[in-house]
Amino acid sequence: MSNRTFTMIKPDAMKNGHAGVIIDRFIKEGYKIVALKVTRLSAEKAGEFYAIHKERPFYGELVQFMSSGPIVAAILEKENAVASFRELIGATDPAKAAEGTIRKLYATSLGENAVHGSDSDENAKIEGDFFFSGLERVL
Ligand code: TYD
Repeated sequence: MSNRTFTMIKPDAMKNGHAGVIIDRFIKEGYKIVALKVTRLSAEKAGEFYAIHKERPFYGELVQFMSSGPIVAAILEKENAVASFRELIGATDPAKAAEGTIRKLYATSLGENAVHGSDSDENAKIEGDFFFSGLERVL
């Protein structure tokens, strides 16, 4: 089991001014920041990141949304990072997310749900490598 996960603070949370409080929550919950940057996905890069959803009906909107403004990308470290972080962010649909979770507190809708969290150790590695070179992370 790996101790790292990858996250993005999505354009809705950035636009709504929630980036600071969300990063603060990561730290308060015991995640160490291994890498962090503000960046923006082109439609092409957003499409590549979410290629697994290419055939889903929401793909076009997802790509449009994820390329609509700046995001924060980060690699976080904590024991059992992937599973514990998924719990911290809550269900994909904020209406179904548990009280106190980041999506419950800050998400806009199912499609614009404030944060991303990797769903497996394998994807955490792939997604971290998608955004960060070795020089950009604390070893
Ligand atoms: P998914 O990987 O299923 O969820 P999660 O982000 O919780 O791992 O879906 C990726 C993103 O696609 C999700 O965060 C929001 C968007 N999405 C929709 O817009 N509509 C949907 O019905 C689903 C399932 C996801």
